[in-house]
Amino acid sequence: MERIGVMTSGGDAPGMNACLKTIVEMSYNLGYECIAFHRAYQGLLENDYTVITKKDVAQIFNLGGSMIYSARSKDFYDEKYQELGAENAKKLKLKALIIIGGNGSYLGAKALSDLGVNVIAIPATIDNDVHSTQEAIGFDSAVNNATNMIDNIKQTMQANQRISIIECMGRYGGNIALYSAMASQADIVAVPEDPLDKKHIFRFIKDQIAYGNNSPTVVVAEKQYDVYTLAKEIEGELNHECRAVILGYMQRGGNPTVRDRMLALRFGVSAVECVKKGILNVALGVNNDKLIATPLEKAVEMSSNFRDDLYQSFKALNNPRNKRRG
Ligand code: F6P
Repeated sequence: MERIGVMTSGGDAPGMNACLKTIVEMSYNLGYECIAFHRAYQGLLENDYTVITKKDVAQIFNLGGSMIYSARSKDFYDEKYQELGAENAKKLKLKALIIIGGNGSYLGAKALSDLGVNVIAIPATIDNDVHSTQEAIGFDSAVNNATNMIDNIKQTMQANQRISIIECMGRYGGNIALYSAMASQADIVAVPEDPLDKKHIFRFIKDQIAYGNNSPTVVVAEKQYDVYTLAKEIEGELNHECRAVILGYMQRGGNPTVRDRMLALRFGVSAVECVKKGILNVALGVNNDKLIATPLEKAVEMSSNFRDDLYQSFKALNNPRNKRRG
């Protein structure tokens, strides 16, 4: 029986399990044995894998996390280990290895493909920073999680007339911050794609207060500021209470949304169909809700998919300097 390999790689994303289950079931339907590598590339290096069956995955469709573990393998950045990984994959006579992960995982996939292993990459990352797709598995769930938490924070801040600085995940991208800021009606968003210096933030908050908003909400993407220090500086500068909150892993955990489950299912079906049709060494994606397959070497080189159009709408609505008094 021919074999397909599968792994979930990088930071986990809600919907990885749904995609895994779909791949296992589709493998069965199309006559492949399915092998799951534990801890992604590290499992490939250590021959840590199991044959995975429909029974194993029966209950996981709606669960966050990853049943087969997700990981970032430091070793796999090293060419020596990439060669070992390729060798191990070849020994297992995999028809293809399906890699469910984000852009770091895509680089590993590309390295394997260059070494003669057939791969298919499926985008799954809460950051939504895989450039060959408009949407990755997990992003919608993370944005919903972040939005619900910001809604809650806004209520208590309103009651206490406090400014809030809320940090979202996103690695080097601002998509989670932007979408959740828009959906929760935050007042200011700071994303790495348009760095705001602290003076701008102070000025924007001052303007909000001047227009009668006693509890401005500032959503910031991670890695830009130390938000606890920023909150203290804002208090000093504006003489108004301010609290910082880091949403952290609460965004990444939890069951996937309907949107992510659907995306995961569609990618899973398509990946195994691609193997059957011999469409290999591609990265799957969506473009205007249509499934697409981009050659892997092109996918790893594409530029950012930050939604600048949404960012401009946010700014047009929220920059107090755009508003007329009275
Ligand atoms: O890539 C997903 C992500 O959650 C990023 O948003 C964040 O920067 C990073 O992973 C956190 O990684 P770790 O789980 O290693 O702390």
